[in-house]
Amino acid sequence: MYGFRSLKLSLRFVVPLVVTLGLLAFAVVPLVDKLNLHWFIRDMDIRSRLIANTLHDPLVELLQQGNKAKINSLLLRYSRDERLLALGYCSDRGELLYRTPTFPKSISCSSAADINTESSKIIQLPEGAVNLATHPVVLEGGTAGLLILVHDTSFMERRSADTRHYIILLFIVLGIVTSLVTVFVAHLSWRGWMEGVRAMLKGEGLLKPFSVQGVNSELQPLVSDLKTLMRSLDAERRLADDSSITWSPETLRKLLHKQLTGEKVIVVSNREPYIHTKKEHGEIEVHRPASGLVTAVEPVMRACSGTWIAHGSGSADRETVDANARVMVPPDKPEYNLRRIWLTKEEEDGYYYGFSNEGFWPLCHIAHVRPVFRTSDWEQYVKINQRFADAVIAEADSENPIVLVQDYHFALLPGMIRRLLPKAIIITFWHIPWPNPESFGICPWREELLKGMLGSTIIGFHTPYHCKNFLETVDRYLETRIEHESSTISRRGQLTMVENYPISIQWPPPWQGMVPPVEHTRSEIVAELGLPEGHLLGIGVDRMDYTKGILERFNAVERMLELHPELVGHFTFIQIAAPSRSALEEYQAFEARLRGLDKRINQRFSRDGVPVIILKAEHHESDQVNRYYRAAQVCMVTSLHDGMNLVAKEFVASRDDERGVLVLSQFTGAANELYEALIVNPYHVEQTAEALYHGLTMPEYEQQERMRSMRTQVRDFNVFRWAGRMLLDAARVRQREKLAARIGRES
Ligand code: G6P
Repeated sequence: MYGFRSLKLSLRFVVPLVVTLGLLAFAVVPLVDKLNLHWFIRDMDIRSRLIANTLHDPLVELLQQGNKAKINSLLLRYSRDERLLALGYCSDRGELLYRTPTFPKSISCSSAADINTESSKIIQLPEGAVNLATHPVVLEGGTAGLLILVHDTSFMERRSADTRHYIILLFIVLGIVTSLVTVFVAHLSWRGWMEGVRAMLKGEGLLKPFSVQGVNSELQPLVSDLKTLMRSLDAERRLADDSSITWSPETLRKLLHKQLTGEKVIVVSNREPYIHTKKEHGEIEVHRPASGLVTAVEPVMRACSGTWIAHGSGSADRETVDANARVMVPPDKPEYNLRRIWLTKEEEDGYYYGFSNEGFWPLCHIAHVRPVFRTSDWEQYVKINQRFADAVIAEADSENPIVLVQDYHFALLPGMIRRLLPKAIIITFWHIPWPNPESFGICPWREELLKGMLGSTIIGFHTPYHCKNFLETVDRYLETRIEHESSTISRRGQLTMVENYPISIQWPPPWQGMVPPVEHTRSEIVAELGLPEGHLLGIGVDRMDYTKGILERFNAVERMLELHPELVGHFTFIQIAAPSRSALEEYQAFEARLRGLDKRINQRFSRDGVPVIILKAEHHESDQVNRYYRAAQVCMVTSLHDGMNLVAKEFVASRDDERGVLVLSQFTGAANELYEALIVNPYHVEQTAEALYHGLTMPEYEQQERMRSMRTQVRDFNVFRWAGRMLLDAARVRQREKLAARIGRES
């Protein structure tokens, strides 16, 4: 097996090598030929001149004596040279007076040059190519003649052919030797790798085989990555069903019971998973907010039970809780407790709108909106974090609960909980990007925030890049010890692990097997929107937020219609934009710009009442959104910066017909996983426009291939696995702590 793999590996090098050498040989041979010819002619000229000079004086003497016999024998003697074919002498009247017997008949004195000049040229005779050189001979008394030297040039061709053969042979030998060396080295490296991985699987450690080959230090980082991966895969496999590693709610429950002995889970987030609002006539309705955090964490909470602590923001929230501000949810099938925290308007303005969304949000998203930091907002932020920390302590029924802290609203919370519950497992997950140290340094309370976060057992980000930024930020602003190999930060005896856990969605999707076929939904939606039959649809689903790149998306739709006017009147883009943080000026300005752009594009490209863009700036429940996902040919996610973006994964999950194309911004965490999407830079309007066009015209087989692969990714890395990986790591940390405590007691 090694042999075959290493052969395949080496073929990847050998084939291009052989092709390159072949091309080189092809280019080099004519060049060498040309050079050879040039050198030969030069040599021949030197030779002709030498012979002519040697012959000159005796010839002049004999010519003056008129001794014909001696002249003939002189010429004959010199023409015995291997290369000199013949010699002749022309008088100044152009008569060929003397010639050796081999002198070609087709050469006459008129073929030679002017009698007073030296010349040399190659001429083609019926017998073959010869070099004709002439040299003036000056007699006493002023009369002149011309000595003609005819050189055989056939040897030049023979030599050229020989050189050509040698060069080709040289390239062949070079090719064979290089290929053999490549195959040999590839074979050795492959064997080393395989032995290393095998040794690791057997638990013998990877380093031995590598160190034998002396490449230990170069591969060390890779080795530790591989080790971590293998360890976590192994643990995950042991928990999931033996037959597969697809994670389910059941797997998560098993994990909680086996590894964490049924510890109670407490989730803390600002946004609550169910909001009760009062309608016009006093009836109460409940809805799920548009929040990636809620989409991901809610199914996890249903699997784990426990308590979710969040801000009670709905107009009917107080009416629907018990005396302890608790309500069981989901309303139709209660599975866990929702504990609501009440905020005054002033507190909400400072902690949520102010510090979290005017400060932290733009600070972490590089989307060209300046963060604003006010002391009054900061004070509210500290105060509300403390209020949530108190609620966690009140909800915890042991000294070591598992607390899942969600997002940038609660950077101080881990430290506050840790002070009162030192043994708690605190897993903080940061749902948005983490900026580089310079950008983070803008925040006046950067040290306090970082210290607060380091109260966590684990801090999770979506991507390795965000982890790296966080480690560098801590390194820049705090006194800590950072172990890069294990990705841990140690500060005042508290160890925090920093890892990437790409968030995901529930799989299988909750509606699976319960919705009509795609074609049916598509016809329904087209009819509902009053669009012509067979009309093409694009979909975008976001909160009304400046980080989502909705303006850029509309510009791309417009550009696509400019570039492909044949689609005008045949395509409509539906944008669902859930109202969000609309009390903030920046958000109001954004909405106004979006509406203006929508209007302008529609005025320009709508035909016969068919709009180009339908902007639905209102809340949609997930089943409604799902219908649009299924109806559309293309889904566009063009965020300017986004932690993960779960819309991309939801769209993929919705397409059980394995059709539909995802256009995805390179600035989302999802772009690290969904490679088969059409990845775009949303700032590049033509690129995004062309991707949209490509999506609308993509052949079905290609759509299927791409979609199938993305669905496998979302299925295998679903949200239960996301939560499971964090809990597993937490269990491992707890194990380590217990061991350390025991060793401490015994020593
Ligand atoms: C992002 C944040 C979440 C937040 C969501 C909705 O996904 O990471 O924490 O809940 O946006 O924003 P909102 O301010 O309405 O909760």
